[in-house]
Amino acid sequence: MKFFIDTANLEQIKEAEALGVLDGVTTNPSLMAKEGIKGEKAVLQHYVDICNIVDGPVSAEVLGTDFDTIVKEGEALAKLHKNIVVKVPMIKEGIKAIKYFTDKGIKTNCTLVFSAGQALLAAKAGATMVSPFIGRVDDSNWDGVQLIEQIVQVYDNYGFATEILAASIRNPLHIVRCAEAGADIATCPLSSIEGLFKHPLTDIGLAKFLEDAKKMG
Ligand code: G3P
Repeated sequence: MKFFIDTANLEQIKEAEALGVLDGVTTNPSLMAKEGIKGEKAVLQHYVDICNIVDGPVSAEVLGTDFDTIVKEGEALAKLHKNIVVKVPMIKEGIKAIKYFTDKGIKTNCTLVFSAGQALLAAKAGATMVSPFIGRVDDSNWDGVQLIEQIVQVYDNYGFATEILAASIRNPLHIVRCAEAGADIATCPLSSIEGLFKHPLTDIGLAKFLEDAKKMG
């Protein structure tokens, strides 16, 4: 399972990269705005800065909602760095654009996916990755991990190559349950990745080993 970090915060990206288990980065307009990134030039530079920290796929989201604008923005983003993956919303014009990008060899991440039917459309258009938002599904009183299981089954039935990128992860258990379900990638806040370290028996066991080590002279 690949681990991506879901943030536009350069310090957190560096911290996750230093752990040695990071495979890529996802961003979205909300995460970019949270970092105070404003204006086209600054936004594009920020993506380049992220690509210079992590040697793996970096999702950069288009803001347009019509085919021509999505294509224009996506082509400009793809030119920034070889690792850029163009993130496109799950709408009709987005699916048309994903098919266009697929034919041009530009990698895509179909975002804002909340159903297996949407994931099926993304795969048929040739999306490199599909992003089901499991935390937001949970928020709406459905089971986000069940959605991952359903998409895994649909993709396995037909051998689709689209990678399932579990997004809107809120805690370490989400990561583990997505791994059990067979998600290819989990994109997570740093806190959820760090949460995987935690077990009280590890802390108790280490304290005891260190105490006994003192007796070794
Ligand atoms: O990857 C999508 C993610 O950024 C959305 O997360 O917590 O806003 O639902 P959240």
